Amino acid sequence: MPSSPRLLMCPPLHFGVDYVINPWMQGRIGSAVPLRAQAQWDALHAALSALADIQTARPGPGLPDMPFAANAGLVLEDTFVVSRFLHPQRQGEAPLFADWFRERGWNVRELPAGIAFEGAGDALLDRAAPRLWLGHGHRSDAAAAPALADLLDIETIPLRLTDPRFYHLDTCFCPLQGGGLLYYPPAFDEPAQAAIAARVPAGQRIAVGEADALDFACNAISIGDTVVLNRASPGLRDALARAGFSVVEIALDEFLKAGGSAKCLTLRLDEPRLSETVAG
Ligand code: ARG
Repeated sequence: MPSSPRLLMCPPLHFGVDYVINPWMQGRIGSAVPLRAQAQWDALHAALSALADIQTARPGPGLPDMPFAANAGLVLEDTFVVSRFLHPQRQGEAPLFADWFRERGWNVRELPAGIAFEGAGDALLDRAAPRLWLGHGHRSDAAAAPALADLLDIETIPLRLTDPRFYHLDTCFCPLQGGGLLYYPPAFDEPAQAAIAARVPAGQRIAVGEADALDFACNAISIGDTVVLNRASPGLRDALARAGFSVVEIALDEFLKAGGSAKCLTLRLDEPRLSETVAG
């Protein structure tokens, strides 16, 4: 019997919009309401507790974006590839997350010097094939793709992101349990759209419209037949229902002020290496 899913989260003790490193933060410095952020995070934690075992990392003072645990690094089996943040404002998070993983027995690795890499914000494992999707163009460097392929011995597909509002892959692309995909095609350049279409059959791709994308609908957590996200339109909920998923909406507008939502607030800890034949 497969063990239950595991997630890492980091409470928003020091969360805030204290600087601007993406368009969502523009004009929003100082606007986060700590008690609301904590309540929304608690609601997400409670909803996910029904689906997964959740571990927490202690947030560091002066690191207001640390609750976005997806950016800590990338997990595959017992290896953790720690991020190398592009912006100095977030670089202090990396050693704290590396320690968390090291203390718990993970094999902590890093990419060659000089390669920016923002973890599971940009590097997403396919849920049905042994394949890693790597978003680049805003945060992670394109060079992270071959470096990860080397380090982890996994096929890695680079996808160039073109819209600054969708600056991490997980803001516009969500591999679904079973091999489907939720995504916002205009956030990608044409070769990236072709690379996706060549690997995920049309019937398994759910393309969202701009309104859903701006509500961070693609920043979704797919566990079993449940998809947890900030908000989905009735049309998107129908499309997900037809694909066999039930949707749990948790309002996370405090975190949208920083450019993040449900998926960014979590990091999946159980990531087995799939074989070509596994479909799930
Ligand atoms: N303010 C954070 C940043 O710009 C938000 C990160 C959201 N994380 C994510 N995986 N999309 O880095």
